[in-house]
Amino acid sequence: MADVILVLNAGSSSIKFSVFDATGGGLELLLRGQIEGLYTAARFGATDRRGASVGARCKIQSHTFICDGVTIGDGVFVGHGVMFVNDTFSTGGPARGRKELWRETAIGNRVSIGSNATILPVKIVDDVVIGAGSVVTKDITTSGTYAGNPARRL
Ligand SMILES: CC(C)(COP(=O)(O)OP(=O)(O)OC[C@H]1O[C@@H](n2cnc3c(N)ncnc32)[C@H](O)[C@@H]1OP(=O)(O)O)[C@@H](O)C(=O)NCCC(=O)NCCS
Repeated sequence: MADVILVLNAGSSSIKFSVFDATGGGLELLLRGQIEGLYTAARFGATDRRGASVGARCKIQSHTFICDGVTIGDGVFVGHGVMFVNDTFSTGGPARGRKELWRETAIGNRVSIGSNATILPVKIVDDVVIGAGSVVTKDITTSGTYAGNPARRL
């Protein structure tokens, strides 16, 4: 677990935050984001140097989990209860801490992810909408609206 410094900037109904790694004599920005709602259970993975990153002007709603290895672009909206996954059980079960088995996810700019979507380790290009409750199992390489399990272009 990296030493992290969490900087909170609380507004009336949202919290802006930055997470910095404080090891190595300097500060390295691991994560920046905004959580809506007073009683949020959003959690962010910052458990090793790979961390996660959230771009500028993003909105992350409550009960979302952003795990290590996730990169989110600018102007992205993530609805409530969105689960990012980095362990695909590639060996037939959980990686059990073997981080070399974790895979990465890259979300482009201006992507909107509907509530309760699950995002497996994929790349999603700019200007994509993901429907509520969708399970994204494959890379999305063309802008558009995708929904369902597995998510397909509408
Ligand atoms: C995906 C979405 C953007 C599509 O909206 P739309 O373009 O107006 O689409 P429509 O409502 O016309 O639906 C088109 C088809 O897709 C299906 N569909 C729509 N949303 C779907 C979803 N989330 N999962 C699966 N299928 C979906 C509809 O049933 C319809 O199917 P049909 O053609 O067989 O009847 C919208 O339904 C959605 O899921 N928005 C997410 C909202 C959200 O989570 N907001 C977070 C607020 S905090």
